[in-house]
Amino acid sequence: MTEIIPSILSADMARLADAIDTVKAGGAAMIHVDVMDGHFVPNITIGPPVVASLRKATDLVLDVHLMIEDPDRYITDFIKAGADQVSVHQEAVVHLDRSIQLIRSSGAAAGVAINPATPIETLSEVFGILDYVLVMSVNPGFGGQSFIPYALQKIQRLDQIRRDRGLDFRIEVDGGVTSQNVCDVVRAGADWVVAGSSVYHSKQPRAAFEDLRRAAQEATLSRI
Ligand code: DX5
Ligand code: ZN
Repeated sequence: MTEIIPSILSADMARLADAIDTVKAGGAAMIHVDVMDGHFVPNITIGPPVVASLRKATDLVLDVHLMIEDPDRYITDFIKAGADQVSVHQEAVVHLDRSIQLIRSSGAAAGVAINPATPIETLSEVFGILDYVLVMSVNPGFGGQSFIPYALQKIQRLDQIRRDRGLDFRIEVDGGVTSQNVCDVVRAGADWVVAGSSVYHSKQPRAAFEDLRRAAQEATLSRI
């Protein structure tokens, strides 16, 4: 099932519970939570206490994207706070296998995110122990950037590798997704598509979410 995952980075940070309820009413099953430390990326966002509050506010899947240096220091804090799935950046860790094991042994699904310029082949050895790969289609740090077109080829190649090797990790795509390109992203092989500003900067976030979801589901059917 293809999912559109609204990113609350672009929502009103004083009204996150409302922002989540709005897309839940439109059928959202997952919420993307962007964690930034001002070091790995130039922006600063939220930490485990906010995730704990979100956990109390919703039963939707909390998809936590760690854009932080040395994520191993914080992985268990985010999972204890209520993260259902956690991704770390390949570029931010030295011992990637250890980070993946830590996420899984702490009870969450494990993902690895790769920046636009990072080849998917850097994950070759760990594809078999991953729950998902997060392909960044913008340089991480901010919402509202434009989709980098060559990310599409990376998604296609990743999907091909998945088929060739008989693996079942999910492919998540994050950054610059709009109603204009969501079909291309899904046809390329994405299972989970993050959408921040195209949902929450819309005048009607629920309708914007529903439109993206409908387009993604049609594109899913057309690729089978
Ligand atoms: C960017 C974040 C994204 C961001 C996407 O660094 O990882 O999740 O919220 O926002 P849009 O969809 O506006 O590009
Ligand atoms: Zn993100």
